[in-house]
Amino acid sequence: MPVANTLELVRAAQAGGYAIPAVNIVDELSMRAVVEAAEEARSAIILQTSVKTVKASGAEPLSFLASHLADRSSVPVALHLDHCPDRAVITTAIEGGWSSVLFDASDRPLDAARAETAEVCAEAHAAGVTVESEIENIVGVEDGVGSDELTHSYSVPTLLEVAQETGTDLLAPQLGTAHGLYKADPVLRFDRVREIRALSDIPVVLHGGTGLSPADFGEFIAAGVGKINISTALKLAYMKACKAHLEEAERVGKWEPVKMFDQVKLALVTEIGAHIALFGSGGKI
Ligand code: 13P
Repeated sequence: MPVANTLELVRAAQAGGYAIPAVNIVDELSMRAVVEAAEEARSAIILQTSVKTVKASGAEPLSFLASHLADRSSVPVALHLDHCPDRAVITTAIEGGWSSVLFDASDRPLDAARAETAEVCAEAHAAGVTVESEIENIVGVEDGVGSDELTHSYSVPTLLEVAQETGTDLLAPQLGTAHGLYKADPVLRFDRVREIRALSDIPVVLHGGTGLSPADFGEFIAAGVGKINISTALKLAYMKACKAHLEEAERVGKWEPVKMFDQVKLALVTEIGAHIALFGSGGKI
């Protein structure tokens, strides 16, 4: 299969009462592991790249590998650019084979966010690429993008009016979650998802998935969330598996990188498999 259409995957999830996991990958190993977890569970999957990952690995190799994995996969695999305030990188992704982009205009005042989101939607849609839009910021700094302070917040009617006017496909609103590990219990805004879904059929994206409980995920999905982003959980599983392997390598005096890759991959397949089970997307393909 070629890389999947993000909007179609999320619309199907929303209609079916489940959410598609969108997992921030960091390299080839994590891309392979996430796709393997999706295949094992018979779930569609979205591979997400931060701008930092695009800059570190290069757009061409990432897109080539995603398309190679999607071609050989028995489940739909989409490629999504996560939080990107940089229009040049957005264009690179649109022209480079990504299924979708998150144009993050939450650092702009409302008028600029509105005007630029409309431009990005026009550019992306001409290439068949889905646009997720964020005009109010989701707290937490991820891979160098974002802020720990709430800088822009709007009413639901304003969010929907801007989404409709600009042609936004997927909406990323503030839902009380944050990127990274929670330092205090979040005040989750299930009510905002319900309000959006009562007024519009635009698919809603939940950011900051790491650290939420199974009950939280269940309530967000029941309220109508169709795409859930996971990044920190993958990074933790990756690094902890490396650490465990390296400690053991030191103890026994055997240094085999490929064995470490196998251990990391297994840890990631297990971690992402657990999220797929929580999001209800398994067994749908
Ligand atoms: P976490 O790092 O909290 O899982 O959030 C991921 C995310 O929202 C990526 O956009």
